[in-house]
Amino acid sequence: MRLYNLFRRIGGIGIAGLIFGLAGLNNVHAAAPAGSPPGPEVCKGCHENQVNSYAASVHGQKGNLKGPANAGECSTCHGNGAAHVQAGGGRGVGGIINPGSKSVPAKDRTATCLACHEDNRTLAFWDSGKHKKNDVSCSNCHSIHGGNILKKTDPSISPYVTTSKQLQYETCASCHKDIISQIRKPSHHPIIEGKLKCSDCHNPHGALSKAMIKSESVNTLCTSCHADKRGPYIHEHPPVEGNCLTCHDVHGSQHNKLLSQKVPNLCQDCHDWTRHPGTPYGAQRGFPPAGNTGRQFVARGCLSCHNQIHGSNASSAGRGQFFTR
Ligand code: HEC
Ligand code: HEC
Ligand code: HEC
Ligand code: HEC
Ligand code: HEC
Ligand code: HEC
Ligand code: HEC
Ligand code: HEC
Ligand code: HEC
Ligand code: HEC
Repeated sequence: MRLYNLFRRIGGIGIAGLIFGLAGLNNVHAAAPAGSPPGPEVCKGCHENQVNSYAASVHGQKGNLKGPANAGECSTCHGNGAAHVQAGGGRGVGGIINPGSKSVPAKDRTATCLACHEDNRTLAFWDSGKHKKNDVSCSNCHSIHGGNILKKTDPSISPYVTTSKQLQYETCASCHKDIISQIRKPSHHPIIEGKLKCSDCHNPHGALSKAMIKSESVNTLCTSCHADKRGPYIHEHPPVEGNCLTCHDVHGSQHNKLLSQKVPNLCQDCHDWTRHPGTPYGAQRGFPPAGNTGRQFVARGCLSCHNQIHGSNASSAGRGQFFTR
């Protein structure tokens, strides 16, 4: 405060302004020899599409005070284009930077954007994310000139929706083909229908959790939407408390209800048949010659009776402990 007053008394603001001004000028000189960068109107002659798409985007808006429009326009991301313009343009001509080009290291491509977006809340764990570690950069997913916030690199006609709006998963599709084939299985989370986005469960910008999920554990993620499965129940089924994915495949499955296997096989991975009536096969019985697989032929629809499979609040007298009610 004291210093400030002092400055005011001797007209320090003017002096400071001059100093900062000179420093700024110095930077420009260091970056490119040709003086202040040419504005969009110069580029427009040859790159009309890019100039228009930029102007229409959030980055091109003057009202967006911290955006590129107030920070050097095109030069914010492409560097000083003066030499490029002088030479009549061309790929790699005049030291023009293309932050979408594979010849620019991913680290540098990303740095262009992080210069402004570093303190963005969703980017807080960018460094620990799988994408950064695998050289995926911002412009692999984001479209600066495409007229849409997200890129759609693998255009497909989707028969599952009646909207022409771009669905987020289409941005992930070009790289995560295995996941995309799962979300098209008969039982699936409604992602292709546009009711759920990948980013409802994942943070594509990085997270500390396994597979960059948005919660600290799989179960807290699932129960954030499926609250009825959270419990606590009077009678708990231990695998449910443990991990929902013991029985479910999250992206898609050929079995009903996203189950990883069919009932009764699912149950019989852990439970034998001893307490149920019937004539189970063993080494001597069942399919010849060696039919002992530990599976039974009766009461295979376990869920017909054990229908509260995630846990029950019925009393023990009412057989709640067996999840039959
Ligand atoms: C916020 C950063 C940013 C700003 C500002 C920006 N661009 Fe771009 N530009 C990019 C990125 C990233 C790419 C790579 C294309 C992609 O991956 O979407 C690109 C691509 C281009 C290309 C195409 C390169 C090619 O591969 O053919 C041209 C031309 C271009 N920009 C011109 C401009 C002009 C002119 C302006 C100013 C009106 C501008 N850009 C402003 C980030 C920016
Ligand atoms: C006289 C025409 C002309 C002007 C003016 C011009 N460019 Fe270019 N620029 C080109 C041509 C031609 C290419 C090569 C495009 C291609 O091969 O598809 C190019 C390529 C680019 C690329 C891609 C570079 C690469 O190595 O991939 C960027 C980015 C770019 N220009 C940005 C700008 C910016 C920003 C401005 C304004 C400061 C500008 N250009 C002004 C003609 C021009
Ligand atoms: C000069 C600073 C600056 C640079 C450089 C910059 N941005 Fe931005 N960007 C902004 C500001 C400011 C906004 C407005 C929203 C906000 O405050 O986050 C924004 C918004 C966005 C949005 C949200 C758009 C929307 O419609 O919600 C995305 C996505 C984005 N930027 C991606 C990028 C990418 C990718 C790059 C690098 C190629 C980049 N930005 C470079 C300042 C910048
Ligand atoms: C793997 C794909 C992917 C990568 C890589 C990626 N993003 Fe994103 N980004 C997304 C998705 C998906 C959204 C959410 C869009 C929506 O709301 O539908 C998003 C949203 C944003 C937003 C707007 C909303 C917010 O979170 O504030 C900004 C800004 C942004 N990204 C910047 C960046 C920057 C900067 C980088 C590089 C450091 C980057 N992104 C890398 C996929 C990606
Ligand atoms: C309903 C929540 C949810 C949605 C929606 C979702 N995921 Fe996942 N994803 C998960 C969970 C949970 C895991 C596994 C975490 C674990 O194994 O601990 C996972 C794992 C992954 C993995 C790691 C590899 C693997 O097969 O386990 C990738 C890659 C992935 N998801 C991509 C995607 C993409 C791309 C989308 C959108 C098409 C998507 N996810 C939609 C919850 C979801
Ligand atoms: C340019 C290619 C590319 C795009 C686009 C892309 N990813 Fe990835 N993603 C990768 C690579 C490479 C990895 C690391 C290798 C792996 O685990 O498959 C990865 C890893 C992941 C993981 C962590 C997997 C694990 O085992 O930890 C998740 C989750 C994920 N991506 C989700 C998404 C989502 C959601 C989108 C769309 C918004 C997306 N990705 C778009 C390339 C991409
Ligand atoms: C962001 C919200 C959200 C999260 C998180 C979520 N789900 Fe879902 N889930 C849904 C929606 C929406 C449906 C479709 C409901 C419908 O169609 O009525 C659904 C349906 C299901 C179904 C029934 C599928 C069918 O074929 O009927 C199962 C099983 C399921 N989810 C399990 C899980 C598991 C396990 C997790 C955690 C890995 C999880 N969900 C995380 C929103 C979510
Ligand atoms: C022991 C295996 C098992 C575990 C573990 C498990 N489930 Fe299930 N889940 C099932 C079975 C079996 C069904 C089919 C029930 C039916 O068809 O009546 C099912 C059905 C569902 C459904 C769709 C029908 C409904 O009741 O809404 C949802 C949602 C669901 N589970 C969520 C979860 C969540 C969330 C978790 C983790 C907290 C979880 N499941 C853990 C076996 C399991
Ligand atoms: C990953 C292993 C696992 C799977 C899969 C599994 N369970 Fe369980 N289940 C357990 C464990 C552990 C207990 C607790 C046993 C105990 O307390 O003695 C249990 C308890 C039970 C009980 C109560 C038994 C009692 O004595 O209180 C019933 C009934 C049951 N499970 C039915 C099923 C059915 C039906 C399925 C298939 C939909 C299934 N379980 C799938 C591990 C599993
Ligand atoms: C016709 C209805 C019915 C069907 C079908 C059925 N159960 Fe049961 N189950 C019961 C009843 C009732 C009990 C409680 C028995 C008791 O009171 O001791 C029970 C008990 C159990 C127990 C606890 C046994 C113990 O040792 O305490 C398990 C585990 C179990 N069932 C698993 C299964 C599995 C796995 C399937 C499918 C292969 C299945 N059940 C099919 C009715 C059924």
